[in-house]
Amino acid sequence: MPEAASDNPLRFHLVNRPVPDPCIIVIFGATGDLTRRKLIPALYNLAADGNLPSSFAVVCFARREKTSESFREELGEAARKYSRRPLNDELWTRFAADIFYHRSSFDQTEGYTTLRDELNAIDQRLGTRGNRLYYLASSPTEFDIILENLSASGLNQAKPGAWSRIIVEKPFGTDLPSAQRLNDAVSSAFPECDTFRIDHYLGKETAQNIMVLRFANTVFEALWNRRYVDNVQITASEPLGVESRAGYYEHSGALRDMVQNHLLQLLCLTAMEPPIDLGADAVRNEKVKVMQALRPLTGAAVAENVVRAQYTEGFINGHEVPGYRHEPGVAPESMTETYVALRLHIDNWRWAGVPFFMRVGKRLPKSGTEIAIQFRGTPPVLFNRESKLQDPNVLVIRIQPDEGISFRMAAKMPGTMLQLEPVKMDFHYGTSFGKATPEAYERLLLDAMSGDATLFARRDEVEHAWTFIDHIREAWKDSSAPRLDFYPAGSWGPRQADELLSQDHAVWRRL
Ligand code: BG6
Repeated sequence: MPEAASDNPLRFHLVNRPVPDPCIIVIFGATGDLTRRKLIPALYNLAADGNLPSSFAVVCFARREKTSESFREELGEAARKYSRRPLNDELWTRFAADIFYHRSSFDQTEGYTTLRDELNAIDQRLGTRGNRLYYLASSPTEFDIILENLSASGLNQAKPGAWSRIIVEKPFGTDLPSAQRLNDAVSSAFPECDTFRIDHYLGKETAQNIMVLRFANTVFEALWNRRYVDNVQITASEPLGVESRAGYYEHSGALRDMVQNHLLQLLCLTAMEPPIDLGADAVRNEKVKVMQALRPLTGAAVAENVVRAQYTEGFINGHEVPGYRHEPGVAPESMTETYVALRLHIDNWRWAGVPFFMRVGKRLPKSGTEIAIQFRGTPPVLFNRESKLQDPNVLVIRIQPDEGISFRMAAKMPGTMLQLEPVKMDFHYGTSFGKATPEAYERLLLDAMSGDATLFARRDEVEHAWTFIDHIREAWKDSSAPRLDFYPAGSWGPRQADELLSQDHAVWRRL
């Protein structure tokens, strides 16, 4: 007899995701881009799919002079533009009726007292039962003062029977000391179990599928180790330039903007051991172990294993684009890297000796994020007797766009000759399941409302990642460090990144 879903907690979790409790989301810094481009469209889509709790409201806390009515209109225009499904006017009107604007500066204690009154009044009116999800979406320089005021006003404390949680948007610090300070500030107001450090890459459907691919199939995991894997390549490529974000990006650069968080998270999911269950701590414990086994790159090892570069003028999709140093807000002599390639080693039983290559860059020819597991070649006999006759197998996990998984293998070309050709087995999310993939923020907001922190970074994960990144940045400051390289916009990065792989007889996969 099939097991009743409720008899097995794991099955219950998989089959019936918990419906989030009624709650209010309070977004600090709600007039910023994140709210209009990501958060409100994500919440609207959750509403359209019937995934929001029965009683729900959004309170937008920001400094600018606005009313709830005028802000709803602005958000409506943004949602029309950025929502993954077309806006349904009736549904939007119903959803937007429970969005409220609360005007205050972040350092004004009174703003928090009036916020508390407003939240209590919404509880009375809508039945949101005292549950609060605070979202730090302001500039990170404001995080401290917001946290202080949440504590001072008691808003961080849940009422009996209710919960109070916080989501912290990236960047989570700019180095280890600042991340530790921020962790301390957050933990003085909220316990770790109520803290949700967002990394939107973890909410991407295919990133979540890495664990399913590995641990819900028999064939892959058996090969997922140093005996069969030659190298692993993780690529995140964007044709976009720095756009209007020079103010942030000039101080961040690609290493801190993308590698410290998104790429290291993908690496952990790819390399980790099977967790003992699917709970937040079990999964995150395994990810932390990968970070602990990551060979630190310090001193001369940085020159040998890391390439950094910046784009110069070039062509993207046939259009001429300026070099990074000519982008608005960028210093004419800027040394900020817009591209990084790294060779990493995970010194544990499973991965010893297998290079993990990563590359990330802006103004590259194509948009694409993928993880490619390159398997070892067959022995040099039979079909592989002559070099280059046979390409080794590659398993590619496409995180975006065209989410899916493909496997390259050798096949005989039809005909009387014995000729081998690489062929692909290809799985596309879109066509296989015939439904649109939810945006990362939809999943993550829902998980935070349900209290599930599996797809959020834990304190120690973030701190390990910063330790690794800080060593590299420290080595770059040394006068003997290799200079910044340059690549034309629209190319696949500097020659030095190709050389990094050729030392291991590997080449970057073509996207
Ligand atoms: C952000 C970075 O975290 O991720 C951006 O700050 C980058 O620089 C973006 O463009 C990429 O996200 P996605 O989801 O478009 O791959």
